[in-house]
Amino acid sequence: MKHLLTLKDLSGETILELIRLGESVKRFPESYSEALKNKVLAMIFQKTSTRTRMSFEAGMAQLGGHAIYLDWCTTNLTVGHLQDEVRCMGRYANAITARVDNHRTLRQMARVSEIPVINALSDRFHPCQALGDLLTIKEKTGRLSGLKLAYVGDGNNVCNSLIIACTAVGMRISVATPSGYEPLPEAVNAARKSGLLQLGKDPVKAVRGADIVYTDTWVSLGHEEESKERLKVFPPYQVNSKLLGKSRPFIMHCLPAHRGYEITDEVMDGPQSVVFDQAENRLHAQKALLLGLLK
Ligand code: CP
Ligand code: NVA
Repeated sequence: MKHLLTLKDLSGETILELIRLGESVKRFPESYSEALKNKVLAMIFQKTSTRTRMSFEAGMAQLGGHAIYLDWCTTNLTVGHLQDEVRCMGRYANAITARVDNHRTLRQMARVSEIPVINALSDRFHPCQALGDLLTIKEKTGRLSGLKLAYVGDGNNVCNSLIIACTAVGMRISVATPSGYEPLPEAVNAARKSGLLQLGKDPVKAVRGADIVYTDTWVSLGHEEESKERLKVFPPYQVNSKLLGKSRPFIMHCLPAHRGYEITDEVMDGPQSVVFDQAENRLHAQKALLLGLLK
């Protein structure tokens, strides 16, 4: 594994190895406290972040390394030629993580970078989120293969990465999105051969028999100008008590959540919600990823 732009870059076995390493890192953090001593992670952010920025930065500190936060607007990434700037970064850092508006930017970076480039969220994928999510699912249920995850809402970056991640490790994933908001063909095609992906429009059908119900914002970063239109279309896809009925799946959300929109307070704060453990597991999964890329 050189770069991680999408989970399509990894085999199911490599993903499972990372999850096992994440479990070990979580259980025995001290054993890894010098594993990346003197290593430096450059963190480029073109969009805002709480969890991704903090978990990468804390993760590098806990591994004995250092992270440098680089705001897109206060660096010379676009004043100069992006690829020249990225090549310079490789002279100071051992890996780059970048959150970008357009996935193409990550591909341009990876093409010239001599150090690993990690996708910290693009318009198309959020692979680090999905790795943390698998770690959470394994922690809560004791397994991955054979489970069913239902994703309800916008067929966005998080949904695309979950489709690839779940099907790569033998989980079924049932996706319910409104027309016009389906996941990317690139993700659907990657999963098709597994026979584990079900696409549809009906949230009730999607959540039937699910072990996990997952949702994300209806308005992703960068889609703010579509808010009015989206808020008309998405309400039937709210994850609420009525949708869940008597079922008791684990509830997941990558956060930030828009309470009262894609998820109700009752569900988000309910006994089945694992959203804060899920947020924590970004840290452990990314430490495993950094170890896998840099050791
Ligand atoms: N889930 C997630 O990536 O959160 P941030 O946007 O806060 O990093
Ligand atoms: N789909 C959301 C995820 C945020 C972590 C977004 O792209 O804004």
